[in-house]
Amino acid sequence: LAAGYDKNAEAVDALLGLGFGTVEIGSVTPLSQKGNPKPRFFRLPEDEAVINRYGFNSDGHAPVASRLQTRLRNWMRKRDLDPVNDEMDIPLSLNDTKLLGVNLGKNKYSAADNHSDYVVGVERLGQYADYLVINISSPNTPGLRELQRREPIEQLLTQVKTARDKNLKHAPPILVKISPDCSETELQDIAAVVQSVGIDGIIISNTTITRPSTLKSGIN
Ligand SMILES: Cc1cc2nc3c(=O)[nH]c(=O)nc-3n(C[C@H](O)[C@H](O)[C@H](O)COP(=O)(O)O)c2cc1C
Repeated sequence: LAAGYDKNAEAVDALLGLGFGTVEIGSVTPLSQKGNPKPRFFRLPEDEAVINRYGFNSDGHAPVASRLQTRLRNWMRKRDLDPVNDEMDIPLSLNDTKLLGVNLGKNKYSAADNHSDYVVGVERLGQYADYLVINISSPNTPGLRELQRREPIEQLLTQVKTARDKNLKHAPPILVKISPDCSETELQDIAAVVQSVGIDGIIISNTTITRPSTLKSGIN
């Protein structure tokens, strides 16, 4: 289940229980923010499509971390494990064959060239993740997709990887989630940086901002 459905980790076990092999929570921003005013979600029935202008509504790191911590501690206590000292031998989805991803975003008013929103996300939420996603491609946060250019993405991914290596014993894979609207140059830059920094994977893709001419609803 892709990011955006359970943005605040409110239904992880129910969603895993429905049969999803991977549930990705988020995007989570450091501070809580409301997102865009409603209406912000529009259905295009003839096209079997939607237009999403949520704008990263998020409870913020602290409540999401607390929900994930409670879930983990309850699971460990039920098995007479000590949440602080005992090691887990199954994924953080708490299911042998499934994964829990944590997708990290950035607050609307954080400076474009300040990568600490993601670094703090790794530090605070990484311990609950089987994999981490650096979302630099949501269409509704001003300046976010500029991070897909070579220099910013190189700095960002280097800092995020350093934070992962320094803080997280279980070293969850880091994936970067990109836009389907990248230019050829951006794609080449992203691929080069992913390889040189040693990022584990790429999620292709987030939502497009294009309005294909094939849309029956003629929306623009
Ligand atoms: C309502 C809605 C909210 C979304 N929120 C997020 C989000 O918070 N973070 C994110 O990385 N992607 C978000 N996405 C993008 C999806 O995770 C997914 O990448 C995108 O919808 C493309 O997949 P699809 O073609 O199967 O819809 C959202 C999508 C929708 C429709």
